[in-house]
Amino acid sequence: MTKTADFEAPFGLLNEWLAEAEKSEPNDPSAVALATVDEAHCPSVRMVLMKACNPQGLVFYTNLGSRKAQDLKANPNAAMLFHWKTLRKQIRIEGKVVPTGGDEADKYFASRARTSRIGAWASKQSQPMEGRFEFEAAIAKYTAKFGAGDIPRPEFWSGFRLVPRYFEFWNDRRFRLHERITYSLDAEKNQWDLTEIYP
Ligand SMILES: Cc1cc2nc3c(=O)[nH]c(=O)nc-3n(C[C@H](O)[C@H](O)[C@H](O)COP(=O)(O)O)c2cc1C
Repeated sequence: MTKTADFEAPFGLLNEWLAEAEKSEPNDPSAVALATVDEAHCPSVRMVLMKACNPQGLVFYTNLGSRKAQDLKANPNAAMLFHWKTLRKQIRIEGKVVPTGGDEADKYFASRARTSRIGAWASKQSQPMEGRFEFEAAIAKYTAKFGAGDIPRPEFWSGFRLVPRYFEFWNDRRFRLHERITYSLDAEKNQWDLTEIYP
């Protein structure tokens, strides 16, 4: 039987599970696998940290020259997967990715540790590197350049927001009789169709 849910519902449930995970996971409870597809339709996946989750979407930050950012430029469709081993829970999310505003990215960038901000300037993420020395030289260069002053956000580093059209909340049950609840967006009514599916 299909039920319906308010637009905020799956975001609220995700945040509830995340709050549980924050108590039990040894580290990085907000880590999420992000799958993208390149111009040749080949998928790739890597972890990112989810920095915000609300009805506008799920936000992560990265280098705009990276492979994932290049993929998203060619094809904004993406998927995310949370799996918390300590909770035996998984959430699958699918949707389209849009860039965050510059102000939002500036605000998050300013909250990062100084060394992480310098690292963002120094890293040509996903590009070939001659050796670690090259990266260390770039870190030294930007450390000297910024001194004790402000470190602005590089224009090649920013945020993306995955705007979901589908969620699946997976809950472990004994004997692999797991529970799976899906939320599919009904964009016209601005609500979700809820369906329970077989494990
Ligand atoms: C737990 C974890 C969290 C990560 N968080 C981020 C992140 O928030 N942003 C990011 O750009 N890379 C993050 N990384 C590194 C990415 O997984 C990946 O190595 C990098 O972004 C380059 O990916 P790409 O070449 O597909 O663009 C994280 C890695 C791990 C293991």
